[in-house]
Amino acid sequence: MNPNDIEPIDMEPLDSTRPVDITFSVPYVHRLRFTADVLGQEQDVLAELLEPSGDRPARVQFWVDQDVATARGNLIEQLRTFSDAQADRFTRVGNVQLVPGGEEIKNDIHILERMLKVMNASNLDRRSYVVVIGGGAVLDAVGFAAAIAHRGLRLVRLPTTTLAQADSGVGVKNAVNLFRKKNWIGTFAPPWGVINDASLLSTLSDRDFICGFSEAVKVALLKDPALVDELCREAPRIRRRDMNVALPIIARSAHWHLRHITLGGDPFEALEARPLDFGHWSAHKVESLSQFAIRHGEAVALGVAIDTIYSSLVHGLPAADAQRVLICLNELGFSLAMPAQADQNALFAGLEEFRQHLGGRLTLTMLRGVGDPIDVHHLDRRRMQEAIQHVAEFAAAHV
Ligand SMILES: NC(=O)c1ccc[n+]([C@@H]2O[C@H](COP(=O)([O-])OP(=O)(O)OC[C@H]3O[C@@H](n4cnc5c(N)ncnc54)[C@H](O)[C@@H]3O)[C@@H](O)[C@H]2O)c1
Ligand SMILES: [Zn+2]
Repeated sequence: MNPNDIEPIDMEPLDSTRPVDITFSVPYVHRLRFTADVLGQEQDVLAELLEPSGDRPARVQFWVDQDVATARGNLIEQLRTFSDAQADRFTRVGNVQLVPGGEEIKNDIHILERMLKVMNASNLDRRSYVVVIGGGAVLDAVGFAAAIAHRGLRLVRLPTTTLAQADSGVGVKNAVNLFRKKNWIGTFAPPWGVINDASLLSTLSDRDFICGFSEAVKVALLKDPALVDELCREAPRIRRRDMNVALPIIARSAHWHLRHITLGGDPFEALEARPLDFGHWSAHKVESLSQFAIRHGEAVALGVAIDTIYSSLVHGLPAADAQRVLICLNELGFSLAMPAQADQNALFAGLEEFRQHLGGRLTLTMLRGVGDPIDVHHLDRRRMQEAIQHVAEFAAAHV
């Protein structure tokens, strides 16, 4: 809505001290695109997201995950060629910025300051674009810098991992780690746009390739029983990186996450329930206890396995469904073994951290059935220990 279109309203006299509560909403547009070769044949898809500012071409700065640049070899060159070819649509500002890949970028707060310095020195403003190409960690950290510079630059994400394409890329959260706690400092800031490009996944290691599918299993268990069936059926082909199977599943997972965020009524997580965090209370703790030797997607596989078994012990999820989820995760290639550092006391401390992060009552999502989530405010520790033990025995039998 144009601010000039706002109807004048009768204002109370200025000296009124009557309390006023006004509900208001802000329209956001979330732009999600799918491509197979975004920096080559389909570069128009990216160029079209970069709207000019009045009669001036858009100003755009590229931020790239160092590990992705190394793995691809010619990425910087491609971005330069792309910028030159599209010079009438946008102006590239400064050099392509390389940042450390993986959790390292989120664990060192000084990197955040360096990123802000670059954005300041480049005179980026609220109509400038930060185009970030990288894994979920780089998207989170660069996204956070972009969200706080001038209270928000326009962020275009090009996720390069299956996890970021299936889940975090379309999310509205960004953060870095502080006080040895995951995502302690961050903001909610919807991206300007997201492009899920298949070619960007080609250089991903096998280990990282499967990581996105634990989030796909998670969202499928919450919302899409047919997708659970498909994941269980196709797990071996996904593990072999059959893209005919993997890409549509990544896309479906991204759509479910996007739908939840845009239509679920609580994009900024003000309410108690956070269903997309199914399996995450232990996952976040396992990640940090392992000092990030375990990837987010691997920890989520373990966390989903544990909460799925717990759901079958306590909330009525059929045991056969719980077992098939463990088999599915195993066939996707996940080890469901608990890392040595994660003893149970340390793990249960994660529950309290999870609650503190949200504030209010502890609220966890569990399953009454596949596609039938339930919010719970209490965890039966003895049953949870049983669930953890069950997963450990499964892992030992399936090495
Ligand atoms: N904001 C959210 O809503 C949200 C949701 C889920 C996860 N996350 C965060 O995402 C992070 C995990 O992200 P991730 O799983 O994408 O892993 P990652 O970003 O840690 O990447 C793993 C490794 O792969 C490298 N890499 C990435 N893409 C590559 C490619 N195409 N070729 C070669 N190497 C590549 C990275 O540089 C890194 O070394 C965690 O910090 C997690 O907390 C955020
Ligand atoms: Zn996650």
